[in-house]
Amino acid sequence: MKVFRTIAETKAYLSEARGKGATIGFVPTMGALHQGHLSLFEAAKKDNDVVTASIFVNPIQFNNKEDLKKYPRTPREDIRKLEEAGCAMAFIPDVEEMYPEPVVDKYDFGYLDKVMEGKFRPGHFNGVAVVVRKLFEIINPDRAYFGLKDYQQLKIIETMTRELKLPVEIVACPTMREPDGLAMSSRNVRLTPEERIIAPAIYRVLSQIKEKTRKYSITELENWAVHQLNNYEELNVEYLEIVDAETLIRPGDWNDSESMVVCTAVHLGKVRLIDNLILF
Ligand code: PAJ
Repeated sequence: MKVFRTIAETKAYLSEARGKGATIGFVPTMGALHQGHLSLFEAAKKDNDVVTASIFVNPIQFNNKEDLKKYPRTPREDIRKLEEAGCAMAFIPDVEEMYPEPVVDKYDFGYLDKVMEGKFRPGHFNGVAVVVRKLFEIINPDRAYFGLKDYQQLKIIETMTRELKLPVEIVACPTMREPDGLAMSSRNVRLTPEERIIAPAIYRVLSQIKEKTRKYSITELENWAVHQLNNYEELNVEYLEIVDAETLIRPGDWNDSESMVVCTAVHLGKVRLIDNLILF
């Protein structure tokens, strides 16, 4: 597997592959790779001739300095995992290479980036949009793979791609979970053993919401779920919302929308976990 630190080398390698008629699949990541990431590479390998990764802990999408500092970094293991996953090339730039000058771009996704993660992590989605667009320009992939784990991020990237008519197909991949239901996340390694035992409660409650869909009002179910989670002394719900799966607007009634998803962010000790489940 080729590992490139510079944009120039990455572009040169990929233009040669494209010249030979190869299709290019791209999986952007921030590293600390786990099975959830690797499932994206499996999907990319099925659809494309050449699979590429990026590993870049993007400072401008962290609204919390402590979170950025504590973000797990495992570069050597990551490169080994990418090699095993059949990745042909990894682009691993430093901050200088990606942002030689201060970033001034501002995106506005209307409602999509104002709610949930957007509300509690100001500037986060702008940072995501800036880096993903820049990575798309460098890699110029035929297809790019994103996890449903970060549901709101996926919707924002789909919207950006559509609105700017970027020539890339966005492929959404299912959330990979531990056997007890906890969504795989790079941040899970920061949970203490005691916290790790409590963490699956999040997915359990989301699954119970799915079972109870339409049996109660939307607000009743949201309140019930928040109460269930906050009953654990260690858990602190930041938000839990049942929203339209495309607009992310909270419908008043189950009949107001064709597809709904429940999204949540929960603090467990020093770690902030997010998860979601499509209800119908
Ligand atoms: P990161 O958190 O490293 O995630 C990279 C990709 O892996 C994202 O598309 C994410 O949704 C997906 N992913 C993470 N956990 C997953 C799981 N359990 N199952 C399936 N897919 C999962 O998301 C980012 O990085 C960044 O915001 C990025 C898009 C790279 C921009 O900096």
